[in-house]
Amino acid sequence: MQVVHSKAEVLAWLQSVRAGNGTLGLVPTMGALHAGHMSLVAASVAENTHTVMSLFVNPAQFGPEEDLDNYPSDLEGDCRKAEAAGVDLVYAGTVDELYPTGYATYVIQEQLTDGLCGTDRPIHFRGMLTIVLKLFNIVRPDIAYFGQKDAQQAAVVTRMARDLDIGVTICVLPIVREPDGLAMSSRNAYLSPAERAAAAVLYQALQEAEAAVAGGMRSAGEITRRVRGRIESEPLAEVDYVELVDCDEISPLAELTGRGLLAVAARFGKARLIDNIVLRTP
Ligand code: PAJ
Repeated sequence: MQVVHSKAEVLAWLQSVRAGNGTLGLVPTMGALHAGHMSLVAASVAENTHTVMSLFVNPAQFGPEEDLDNYPSDLEGDCRKAEAAGVDLVYAGTVDELYPTGYATYVIQEQLTDGLCGTDRPIHFRGMLTIVLKLFNIVRPDIAYFGQKDAQQAAVVTRMARDLDIGVTICVLPIVREPDGLAMSSRNAYLSPAERAAAAVLYQALQEAEAAVAGGMRSAGEITRRVRGRIESEPLAEVDYVELVDCDEISPLAELTGRGLLAVAARFGKARLIDNIVLRTP
């Protein structure tokens, strides 16, 4: 495995592997790798002749009050994990090269970014889409892998790829969870032991909603009230949102008919955690 930090080195590597047939998979990450990230790598390694993983904590997707400065990082550990998993190239780009002085161009998506995390994090999706498009342009993958953990991000990236004719297939893979159901996240490292224990309430609440739907509940208001109540029963949790939305449009649903994305965000101390479940009517 090679580890590179500049665009020129990525290009040189691409030219060396592009000579043959085969496909190139890209797994974009911000590092601090856990089993959720590694599930994306495993899929890419299985499905492509070559896999590139990017590690870059992208300042453009963090708001001024957010955790950019404290975001966990472990380049050495990440490279060891990537190599063991079969990654061919780690691209750990630099802020100076990716956002040079005078940087002025961003990708903005309408509608899908209005709700859920777009409300609390107004510049987040603009920064995220911009770096993802830049990574697509630098690495030129055939397939890029994203996690359902960030369901709105996955929908937003899928729509960008379609709308802008990017020619990269977007593959979205299931949420990897801890044994107690907490979705794996680099931000779980911020949790104190008590907050870590409390955070299991998120998935419990989502599962209770699933059971309520199986029992006939359909009204978005009733479903989200129940989930919010369950999360708020945990004193260390502070709910940001609980919403039922269309899985692709990320627009609010009044009633569950067919499929719907039930998404939550809540704060436990310094950590803002998100989780979701796709609800289906029988
Ligand atoms: P990051 O939070 O590091 O996540 C990288 C990828 O791993 C994302 O596609 C995310 O959805 C996926 N992922 C995270 N936790 C997961 C879990 N528990 N199960 C399955 N997949 C999981 O998301 C980002 O970085 C950034 O926004 C990025 C796309 C890299 C752009 O900067």
